[in-house]
Amino acid sequence: MNATTTLRNRSWAPDAARVEGAVKVYGSPDSADTAVTALDGVSVGFPAGRFTAIMGPSGSGKSTLTHCAAGLDTLTSGSAYIGDTELGSLDDRRLTLLRRDRVGFVFQAFNLVPTLTVAENITLPMDLAGRRFDQDGLEWTDALIDVVGLRDRLHHRPAELSGGQQQRVAVARAFAGRPDVVFADEPTGNLDSRSGEEVLGLLGRAVREMDRTVVMVTHDPVAAAHADEVVFLADGRLVDRMEAPTADKVLDRLKAFDTRSAPPSEGGPS
Ligand SMILES: Nc1ncnc2c1ncn2[C@@H]1O[C@H](COP(=O)(O)OP(=O)(O)OP(=O)(O)O)[C@@H](O)[C@H]1O
Ligand SMILES: [Mg+2]
Repeated sequence: MNATTTLRNRSWAPDAARVEGAVKVYGSPDSADTAVTALDGVSVGFPAGRFTAIMGPSGSGKSTLTHCAAGLDTLTSGSAYIGDTELGSLDDRRLTLLRRDRVGFVFQAFNLVPTLTVAENITLPMDLAGRRFDQDGLEWTDALIDVVGLRDRLHHRPAELSGGQQQRVAVARAFAGRPDVVFADEPTGNLDSRSGEEVLGLLGRAVREMDRTVVMVTHDPVAAAHADEVVFLADGRLVDRMEAPTADKVLDRLKAFDTRSAPPSEGGPS
């Protein structure tokens, strides 16, 4: 079976991205004083064609996990895969190509180029790569522009747009090259709730109507409820997963973290 085949049923969907035994230590691992273990042996897969949310307390390793899974940062030990490609096996050039061609990223700060128009920002990754738009690619970006609702803003510059509109441009840019997976780290963190809902609706439509794969970090139970599944991190470990989340169920799960700082299987803080 082709690894990019999109299947709805989780039990059949191949992972678009996954990490196995992921450990990330910041600072010198030899110096107990300065070393911070951000990921402490995480194994998790993000199925193709699905919308997965990552939640957990501040400092639990959510950003580290997404950055390492996306190839923006490297693991201290363990493996990260995009499809069947193990990122640690790639030299710098191949890793750059993989990031460019197979992964999209949406950040909390919109990270648009201020001097470029909306249209130019959306196609920037492909223009930088010297990738020509074939008919398929043109139709894809055209459809994307309608999905994000920016057709009447294509020749505006980011400063002329609201925050929500700017983030919609960033979302369109992340999907423009038809990557295997789009990672979003708190994409609604800087938005009011209405603009946030628009961006979340957009990510959901990309998954359900355009067969995309999305992995999103969020603090917000309402945002997480847009996902097909939520994975929970605590202290750099995967502690739970929840299918078909609702805001209430997610909130209840998070409250359990507050009353018990260590994962359930742990004997408490050491
Ligand atoms: N560059 C770095 N150098 C040293 N420590 C880091 C670095 N980046 C993150 N950390 C530490 O790693 C741990 C996990 O950080 P991470 O940013 O992944 O958490 P997070 O779950 O995304 O938190 P938040 O919800 O606040 O964004 C934290 O203890 C953090 O202080
Ligand atoms: Mg973070």
